[in-house]
Amino acid sequence: MSKNYNVAILGATGAVGTELLALLEERNFPLGNLKLLASERSAGQSIKFAGRELIIESVTETSFDGVDIVLASAGGSISKKWLPIATKAGAVSIDNSSAFRMHPDVPLIVPEVNPESAHYHKGIIANPNCTTILMAVAIYPLHQVQPIQRIVASTYQSASGAGARAMEEVKIQSQAILNGEPAVPEILPYPLAFNLFPHNSPMTDNAYCEEEMKMVNETRKIFGDYDIRITATCVRVPVLRAHSEAINLEFAHPFNPDRAREILAKADGVKVVEDFSKNYFPMPIDASGKDDVLVGRIRQDISHPNGLELWLCGDQIRKGAALNAVQIAELLIVKDLI
Ligand code: A2P
Repeated sequence: MSKNYNVAILGATGAVGTELLALLEERNFPLGNLKLLASERSAGQSIKFAGRELIIESVTETSFDGVDIVLASAGGSISKKWLPIATKAGAVSIDNSSAFRMHPDVPLIVPEVNPESAHYHKGIIANPNCTTILMAVAIYPLHQVQPIQRIVASTYQSASGAGARAMEEVKIQSQAILNGEPAVPEILPYPLAFNLFPHNSPMTDNAYCEEEMKMVNETRKIFGDYDIRITATCVRVPVLRAHSEAINLEFAHPFNPDRAREILAKADGVKVVEDFSKNYFPMPIDASGKDDVLVGRIRQDISHPNGLELWLCGDQIRKGAALNAVQIAELLIVKDLI
């Protein structure tokens, strides 16, 4: 008889937590007990799962006893506090926060790119940053054929990256503006409805924000290639849940766009969406709710003989977070690493 696994979702009421629940059900995950953990604010409330009402619990020292897999998406400080306790209790945690991503003992995994990294886990595996996951899925197949030397990424990031309350805020602000009232920011630093702003993550010493530096450092770690030069400009846009990215790649030699298209058409987790005659390419509304990263506008960079341009959209909550985490859990099960 195949084994079932006891799972705890830490942050079960959030945007990613909600999607984790949907994915466990949809993908027929070999589930034993399912424990829903959130803050004290939500404790005692219930969530429907597979036709049953599950009661949300607040986290305690004993929450992880008997749990095999923790899917964590409650923010960095919560992960730092509770995941070492989960490890001690014998669970393997897949953490959606940035708390452990660059730790040398913690694998940072995109299953389509570096599934073999799962072998060296010591109880915690990090799920990469959402924009990084989406870019990695789309460009790694090209990198395998001819190593990428430099990446210039520009992102157009939805409100969902800042959580469920930020998504709600954009809707409320939009309604307020349509009613002729001011858009009041509470979760995000500035009004996002009918506006955009450079990413709201904290600034670092080099004048890049943390989100941009995550794309730089995490991509190198996932690819296991510390020579790739990467620069990014991350921007928050008034889209609810899918991120878009304009990516410029530079190789040592020209990369034929038709060859790139052919490679990406066969790549796992990628769907090529292009109709140049209709000017139809990936859009966030088409990517929302989908597993694949949609890629299009694959073209020669006219400013550089070895440059290639592409455009992508991917569901930030799904492949950018919850789906990638569930795929990592499935990988652990298939490889018997749990
Ligand atoms: P809660 O709904 O009880 O606040 P999002 O990223 O969409 O904003 O979601 C954040 C998730 O993290 C929510 O499920 C939230 O639960 C949870 N969370 C926030 N603070 C804590 C905490 N102190 N302990 C456990 N979970 C928390």
